[in-house]
Amino acid sequence: MAIFIDSGNIEEIKTYHSMGIIRGVTTNPTILLQDGIKGGMAEIKRCSVDLAKLIHPYPLSVEVTTNDPRKMLEEALEMASWADNINVKLTIHGPDGELDNLTVIHELETKHNVRVNVTAMMSAQQCFVAALAGATYVSLFCGRVNNMGYNSMEELSKLRNLIDSFDLKAQIIAASTREILNIVEWLDAGAHIVTVLPKFMNGMIVHPYTKETVQQFLDDAAKGEGAK
Ligand code: E4P
Repeated sequence: MAIFIDSGNIEEIKTYHSMGIIRGVTTNPTILLQDGIKGGMAEIKRCSVDLAKLIHPYPLSVEVTTNDPRKMLEEALEMASWADNINVKLTIHGPDGELDNLTVIHELETKHNVRVNVTAMMSAQQCFVAALAGATYVSLFCGRVNNMGYNSMEELSKLRNLIDSFDLKAQIIAASTREILNIVEWLDAGAHIVTVLPKFMNGMIVHPYTKETVQQFLDDAAKGEGAK
């Protein structure tokens, strides 16, 4: 089981990587845009190469920027060539339900030895199909699943049973964190990995009662010093 960080911000990633608590990084076009990566493919490459180097040998997910099957394959091959710990994210299907993506995913995994993170999935069924196609990672957008009124923990548990029963290699990434509680509850429900927004990392660590307790220790240590 592991925690990845869902960010393209190298300073934030450095902070948690140096603590030894993250085992990978996930990005997507929205995250990169929010983190100020706006210079097209050249900028994506620069940022990805820096991040991959920083966290090596842990994995970095980088998402393709097109839905044209031929270009998707080309981009995925290019991105995977930037560093040996980069895996490529492709959505399960296109914006109109186009099915070419799975063919590209299968080809990348079986013919080109590229690890694929299949993304934007909202159900155990979608993730199961992506795992059958050979995906290394299947990303279930648990926060979005909950937003739609479905129970992401039930989806995670069904999916984990299927992956284990069929002896598939895919690792389940529970994504779209919405609150700190998601991290342990999704791992508990069957996710191999939860990818966490940086704002929730601090919340996992810092507790108001710990602050108060630490202050008590410091105050008493100072009093003890004074008594010498
Ligand atoms: C991670 O791999 C996903 O791209 C990310 O968690 C999606 O988060 P969102 O649903 O908040 O956009």
